[in-house]
Amino acid sequence: MKGIVLAGGSGSRLHPATLAMNKQLLPVYDKPMIYYPVSVLMLAGIRDILIISTPDHLDDYVRLLGSGAQFGVDFSYAVQERPEGLAQAFVIGRDFVGSDDVALILGDNIFFGAGLVSLLDRASARRRGATIFAYAVEDAERYGVVSLTGEGKPLRIVEKPQAPQSPWAVTGLYFYDNRVLDIAAAVKPSARGELEITDVNNAYLALSELHVECMSRGYTWLDTGTHDSLLEAGEFVRTIQKRQGQLVASPEEIAFAKGFISRDQLHERGAELAKTAYGRSLLALAAEAR
Ligand code: DAU
Repeated sequence: MKGIVLAGGSGSRLHPATLAMNKQLLPVYDKPMIYYPVSVLMLAGIRDILIISTPDHLDDYVRLLGSGAQFGVDFSYAVQERPEGLAQAFVIGRDFVGSDDVALILGDNIFFGAGLVSLLDRASARRRGATIFAYAVEDAERYGVVSLTGEGKPLRIVEKPQAPQSPWAVTGLYFYDNRVLDIAAAVKPSARGELEITDVNNAYLALSELHVECMSRGYTWLDTGTHDSLLEAGEFVRTIQKRQGQLVASPEEIAFAKGFISRDQLHERGAELAKTAYGRSLLALAAEAR
C-alpha cells in the first residue's frame, strides 16, 4: 500500500504565522506538524510515501524529510500548483500510486490513542472499498459529517453542513482501493471550487463499499487549524510526553519498533539531535534495546 500526505494549502487561517511558512512545517510542541501524519502512515506499515505541497514550500519538505532513509521509508515529492481540493491528491499522485491501494492523510491531522494500530491494521487489511474514520465533535459543521444507521452503516456524508445531522466528523485519514484514481479523476469542482474528498467518499458509499470506523473516546483527534487549536495541540503533546516519558509520533521510534531502521541507525539519529529532549529520548530507546 502507498501513502500520500497532503501538506499544501494556503494556511490563511493562521496568518501571519504562515505568511512565509507552510502550515505543516510549524511545530506542534517539539516536532514539525508533518511528523504526526507521517507517523500514522508508518504505524499502518506504509513505507512508500508521497509528500504533496505548494510550489513555494515543497523544497522545505525535501530539506526536512529528504529521502526518508532516517525513518527507513521512501519519500517522493510532488507539487500541487493551487489548493484545488483534497481529491486532487489522486490526480497528482496517479503515477506514484500505480496499481496499488493507497492511504491519504492530511498534513494537519493529529491522531493519538492506544487502539490506533489495530484500527489502522483493520483498514489496511481491507482489500476492497474505502475506509474513513469518524470522530464525534461539538462543532461538526466545520467538517465533512457522516450520518450513520443504528448499526453504524453510513447513510450520507455532507461537507460542512449548516445543520449537522450527526456529531460524527470525518477525519483527514482515508484508505482506498485502486479505483480511487478513476473515482477522483471524475469528481467535478464543488461550489467552493474544490475537488472534494467528500464526493470521493460518497461515490464509494453509492457502491455500498464505504466502511466507517468510529473513533471512540479513547482516541484523540486534534485540530491545528487556528492559533488556539494549534497551541492546544502542542500543550496536549507536551502533557502526554512529560507524564509518560514517551514520545508521541516519533517517526524514528516507530521505524525502530517496526524494524525499518536498526538500533545503530536509531542511536545515530539520536546523537544528531542530542541537544534536545527529543534526541535524548531516541538515545535512551536505543540504549534500552541493547
Ligand atoms: O480535517 C478533516 C476535514 O478536512 C474533513 O472533515 C473535511 O471533509 C475535508 O474537506 C477537510 O476539511 P477542510 O476543507 O477544512 O480542509 P482544509 O481546507 O483545511 O485542508 C486540510 C489540509 O489539507 C490543510 O492542511 C491544507 C491541505 N490542503 C488542502 C487543500 C484544499 C492541501 O494541501 N491542498 C488542498 O487543495
